[in-house]
This record gives sequence, C-alpha cells and structure tokens, in this order.
Amino acid sequence: MIKNLIKKTPLLGQFAAFVRYQDLKRKIRLVDKTEGAHPVDLAGIAIPPAELRYRVHGDLSQKAFLNVGRQVTNNIRKCIERVGCKWSSFHDILDFGCGSARVIRYFLAEDVEKKFTGVDINQELVDWCKANINGVNWKLTPTLPPTNLEDNSFDFIYGISVFTHLDRELQRLWLKELGRIIRPGGIILLTVHGTAYARHINLGESDRGKLRDNGFLYLSGVTGKWKLDGLPDFYQTAIQTTGQVRQEWSEHFDILGHFEGGINKLQDAVVLKAL
Ligand SMILES: C[S@@+](CC[C@H](N)C(=O)[O-])C[C@H]1O[C@@H](n2cnc3c(N)ncnc32)[C@H](O)[C@@H]1O
Repeated sequence: MIKNLIKKTPLLGQFAAFVRYQDLKRKIRLVDKTEGAHPVDLAGIAIPPAELRYRVHGDLSQKAFLNVGRQVTNNIRKCIERVGCKWSSFHDILDFGCGSARVIRYFLAEDVEKKFTGVDINQELVDWCKANINGVNWKLTPTLPPTNLEDNSFDFIYGISVFTHLDRELQRLWLKELGRIIRPGGIILLTVHGTAYARHINLGESDRGKLRDNGFLYLSGVTGKWKLDGLPDFYQTAIQTTGQVRQEWSEHFDILGHFEGGINKLQDAVVLKAL
C-alpha cells in the first residue's frame, strides 16, 4: 500500500528515494571504515571500495562481490563448453561493461597468456580499474556506439548484466557494434533477463501480458540524482523472451545457445557466433 502511494505521488517518491540514498551513503562509509585501505582477493588483485561494488552488483558485501564474480566466471566457461567451443582457443578477450572487475579478475588470475580488454561507460569505474589492476587494457567507452575499438579486434566478447538494462533500440545498436569489433567466427556471450528473472521478481499479471505480447518489457524505476547505482537514467531493467532474442538477434549472429538462468541462476546466457 505504501509502495503504491509512493508510486502515485511523485514528490513522496522523490523523498523516499532521497532517504534511501542517504541511508546507502551512510552504510557505504561504515563498510569502507571496517574494511581498511587496499583490500585484495586471494590472487592478490585489488578489491574495489564498497560504493564501486554496489554500483555493479547492488550489494555492499565484499564476500558476495567475490563469490558472485567467481560463480559468473565458472558459468561463462560452462556455457562456452556447452556450445562446443574451447576456452583455450580464445586469445583476444573483451569484457564489455567490465564494471569494477568483478568477473575479469578470475580470468586474469588463471589465464596469464591471454590479452584482455575491459571497457565501461562509467568514468569512475574505469579510473579505479586503471589505477588498481594491471594486465588489462582498460578503456572508457561512449554511451552510444561506435567505440574507438578496431574492427575484428576480438575472438571472444562477454557482457554480463549490460543488455539486461538496455532498451530494445540500444540493444540493437550495441549488437551491431559488437558485430563490428568481433572477428568473423568469433564468439559473444551476453546475458539477458528472461523467464528466470521474471519469476524471481514476481512480475505482475499485466506486465507478464505485455512481455508475452511484445517479447520485450522495459521497467523504469528511480531516475535522477537519487538513482542508487550511480549509472545513467537509461540504464533500467529490460526483460525479454527467448523468442524475441531468437528473432531479432539472429539478424546479426548465429545463436549457438540460449541458456535460461545460465548465469547465477538468474540471468539467461545467450551465446552468439559472428557470421
Ligand atoms: C551491472 S554492471 C555489471 C558489471 C560487470 N559486467 C560485472 O558483471 O560485474 C553493468 C555495467 O555495464 C556498464 N555499461 C552499461 N552500458 C554500457 C555500454 N553500452 N558499454 C559499456 N559498458 C556499459 C555500466 O556502467 C556498469 O558498469
């Protein structure tokens, strides 16, 4: 009932967002204080401060950040194997939307001979990665394509929790750009919110209907100054069906696999091969 009231009263909604934001800031200060300066993971790779963990992952816990990163890395390898590809065949790898290196840190620790690039649109995240983690070509990229990455640069690209937040048109533009920078025959793994996620958030009847009818649903929450994750307003919540992915993404790529809940049991993993 309170949620509905807040939804219907914009000023009240703004005030509630302000209070949540202040509370989050207070918790972040507390967590940073208890963790001390320059924490590192088991491989000796720097762990970002609480705010930059929260930004990519919606949680302040250091342990959860590392555990989820490890889990996602294992899931990526598994999906690649399931479509009959060999991780060992990849050499030039791009983490599209690298955030604060939650995932790439595990590949880095285990695959010293590969060449890694990490890109993100968020200046603060990229600055932190550049200042704290070696062995990756970190780059800030624009919110709209094109990037200044060369044609045919990579044989494997993965994007975790990026397309899950882009509307249909932005997804289309970025698919085209990824198609430009991947090599012919190269592999791309992207996550999307599908039925596993819709169940998880208990999507209401009317929204389920819209998703069924359109194959795509874009849910917008708080925007503006009090948006908790510090990412742009266009970064909201996209949910899409396997049918929509099959129909629209196959214009750009061969779809080798669509694994529902394949990443952390929550996001679908779509594995694509460049035509
Ligand atoms: C939920 S976070 C996930 C970060 C990282 N992939 C991970 O799993 O830890 C999504 C990230 O994608 C970035 N992002 C959003 N749109 C992007 C785009 N078009 N190109 C590159 N990065 C983008 C955001 O800035 C944010 O850091």
